[in-house]
Amino acid sequence: IISGKVVSQAKREELKNRVAQLNVQGTEVGLAVIIVGNNSASRVYVNNKKKGCEEIGVNSYEYALPEETSQSELLELIEKLNGDDKVDGILCQLPLPAHIDEQAVINSINPQKDVDAFHPFNVGHIMIGDYTFLPCTPAGVMEMLKFYNISVKGKKCVVIGRSNIVGKPMAMLLLKENGTVEICHSGTANLKAECLGADVLVAAVGKAGFVTADMVKEGAVVIDVGINRGADGRLCGDVCFDEVEKKASFITPVPGGVGPMTITMLLE
Ligand code: GUN
Repeated sequence: IISGKVVSQAKREELKNRVAQLNVQGTEVGLAVIIVGNNSASRVYVNNKKKGCEEIGVNSYEYALPEETSQSELLELIEKLNGDDKVDGILCQLPLPAHIDEQAVINSINPQKDVDAFHPFNVGHIMIGDYTFLPCTPAGVMEMLKFYNISVKGKKCVVIGRSNIVGKPMAMLLLKENGTVEICHSGTANLKAECLGADVLVAAVGKAGFVTADMVKEGAVVIDVGINRGADGRLCGDVCFDEVEKKASFITPVPGGVGPMTITMLLE
């Protein structure tokens, strides 16, 4: 079992020390977190991000804006934060209300403060393998693989999901580590056969129980990025854990796998 809790704890200790060192040199670190509207999942994420900052000694500044905030008001706030020396990182929690153009907002964040690495400037840097910031979820996956000494070099890596936040950057990071990478998605023909070929299988679909044992090769490394509510109301991933665990050499559980890593990697 790949424990995101264990890896996360080790990483946060390291980060706490790094922030303390900066403080000794007279430098404080600050993260601005923007949340628009009343999405309850976003509220939980933002609270955890603030708590994580506190834990390692980073100042956090929350901007909670009402649902009816206009795009230009939001852009104005980001412009102000872009020029604020106390703010080293800016994070605008997604999703945004439907009347706001998400990409326009992402594009307005100073790339040097874009801790989510969603700005096209940073996306481009990831593409060429020379980056400062990484999206926290794929970064967390790579950190877990490193911690457990799992090499992807020369291995067939299949990523299910092609989102800008997870699937695409995940593929780039696996490629950088010399994996042979394939991105599958809802339009992929013979998805089961593609997955069966995978030495490393990353599921970022957003559907409970999507990956079943008959899609997994014996001895594969299985990374479950999904966070879903099952029919019984319990938190579960994209992978049928109980049956896939028996075939996998390594597997991340949900909860306790990728989830705990994401905020830790944001803090980094
Ligand atoms: N919503 C879901 N995941 C993320 C994330 O990593 N960053 C931001 N800003 N919003 C999200």
